[in-house]
Amino acid sequence: MPLAFDVLEEGFGAEIQGLRETDSLGPALVDELRKGLADFGVLLIRNEEITPERLVQLGNAFGELEILPEPEKRHPDHPEIFNLSNLRDDGQVVDYEEPQSVFLRGTERWHTDSSFRNIPCLCTMLYAVEVPENGGETQFANMIAALEGLPSDLREVVNQNRLVHSYVFSRANNPGRMDPMSPEEEAKYPPVTHPWVRTHADGRQSLYMGGHVSHVEGMDVNEGRELVELVLQEATRPEFIYEHQWADNDLVIWDNRSTLHRLRPYDISNTRRVMRRITVAGTEPVI
Ligand code: OGA
Ligand code: MN
Repeated sequence: MPLAFDVLEEGFGAEIQGLRETDSLGPALVDELRKGLADFGVLLIRNEEITPERLVQLGNAFGELEILPEPEKRHPDHPEIFNLSNLRDDGQVVDYEEPQSVFLRGTERWHTDSSFRNIPCLCTMLYAVEVPENGGETQFANMIAALEGLPSDLREVVNQNRLVHSYVFSRANNPGRMDPMSPEEEAKYPPVTHPWVRTHADGRQSLYMGGHVSHVEGMDVNEGRELVELVLQEATRPEFIYEHQWADNDLVIWDNRSTLHRLRPYDISNTRRVMRRITVAGTEPVI
């Protein structure tokens, strides 16, 4: 039976009906999912218990899985799974200022995952194990619509420029103190550049930017950052946003090529938020 995609927010985001844990992920189904992802940017499956094995299986159906830079956050049995959780190893909720909390709060900035890689990711799958009652939503911004809505002077700027993305930069700008990365780890993630506008396989174009961006290539750093800030403000206007209010056992898959996302604040040092995340590698961004 074909999947049904129920649109969430004026053509952006869709809830999938008809995918069950036991369905085998054959090529026809995976093609449908890939097309749905490209068409809607964000896919949602509600109320489905998804084991770590199934999550990895779902990710593998889309492509090669990334392994994240921080080894201590990897799932013990599945290194591809990133434990995105505000619980320490001892099961206690983090303190507001400790590095784990600082890292999580870093995702409150608009970003697209792993844009600091030469080959950034295609999509992220985030599964909610336990979520707070208040706060902790995730917002997604549609960068295809945002590019279309950009004033013509800024459109010219984004069409003509490339951005420098750097993991060392974005980590250094987290909202608090982090454990320093080792020089070996840092050396693995040198700055990369990507076009500010991406062209996708279906011919549509989107903005490509976010929190890993350090500056505009070849431009005075401050001047470039001001422009980036201006475009970001235009691109994240309310009409481009879908906000996901999580419930336990939700799975959200987002297209990192054509969307930005951010975590909304919650009472991180008092309420539990436990998520499992995988990212699927993509292709080199081209304009
Ligand atoms: C991420 C991320 C936001 C959230 O996992 O890449 O940005 O809502 N998460 O946890
Ligand atoms: Mn993210």
